[in-house]
Amino acid sequence: MTKETTVAGIPQMGYGTWNRSADEAHQGVIWALEAGCRHIDTAQGYGNEQDVARGIKDAGVARNEIFITTKPDNYGPGAVMPSVRESLEKLRVDQVDLLLLHWPSPHNKYPLADYLGQFAEVFDAGLARKIGVSNFTKALIDESIRLLGSRTITTNQVECHVYMQNRPIIDYCQKLGIAVTAYSPLARGAVVGDAVLEEIGKARGATSDQIALAFLIAKGHVVIPSSSKRGRIMQNFEARKITLTPAEIKRIEGLEKGMRLVNGDWCPVWDA
Ligand SMILES: NC(=O)c1ccc[n+]([C@@H]2O[C@H](COP(=O)([O-])OP(=O)(O)OC[C@H]3O[C@@H](n4cnc5c(N)ncnc54)[C@H](OP(=O)(O)O)[C@@H]3O)[C@@H](O)[C@H]2O)c1
Repeated sequence: MTKETTVAGIPQMGYGTWNRSADEAHQGVIWALEAGCRHIDTAQGYGNEQDVARGIKDAGVARNEIFITTKPDNYGPGAVMPSVRESLEKLRVDQVDLLLLHWPSPHNKYPLADYLGQFAEVFDAGLARKIGVSNFTKALIDESIRLLGSRTITTNQVECHVYMQNRPIIDYCQKLGIAVTAYSPLARGAVVGDAVLEEIGKARGATSDQIALAFLIAKGHVVIPSSSKRGRIMQNFEARKITLTPAEIKRIEGLEKGMRLVNGDWCPVWDA
């Protein structure tokens, strides 16, 4: 496994593949691995697990050096295990390193106790080395801890970037010892050119997007930026080398403006 910094056993810097076409995911994974990144984030719903697998194969990096995360999206009765098996087949692995429940069931279509129970069975069957959740609220985290018993929720993957630092759920997870994985860490590109980030970056020869990532790293989060461009993938991965001062961190905290990007009608009621 990687010698990079880990958070709860997860390499802190990963490469995200949401919205990546087959070719982009394949090529992006190759570039990410070339950059030294050893953590790839995908999901059943992204439709590119097989392209991630092709990228890993073509990059020639050994399976045991790469941390793979995926997320099932089918929660119906009896659906989780077959759905995860399908993901494993597409990813060409026997086990993923991290399996996350991608979303709480939209509009509570399926009861949490049922799909979480199925998820626990998948873990108990050894199909995932670690398990976690994504887009879970405080109440759902509490309920999940109760239902999962001795099984550990390694991380809650939630939206987090300098413009929406997501304090309520993040503070809660950290209090419970659940690592936070920050998705859309670049606010989908909106942080680029931010005057404060640029000024902080200038002194170090770093870019605004690198400072945005360095801030999340300083907070102890796992970060999974995505790009379809080789130069940006390399640039993003280099951000892990930047150490911000407490004064700079404080200044960046001031950029919070509640800019939530992922907020569709399938979302739970977010913690305020
Ligand atoms: N669990 C969930 O529900 C959930 C939800 C959303 C995302 N995620 C995960 O988190 C990952 C990252 O989130 P995201 O893809 O939404 O957003 P993001 O990483 O914040 O931003 C990606 C966007 O920023 C641009 N970009 C990347 N690096 C850049 C740079 N250095 N300079 C300028 N622009 C740059 C990319 O465009 P180019 O391609 O043109 O570079 C892309 O459009 C996803 O890929 C996925 O794995 C999970």
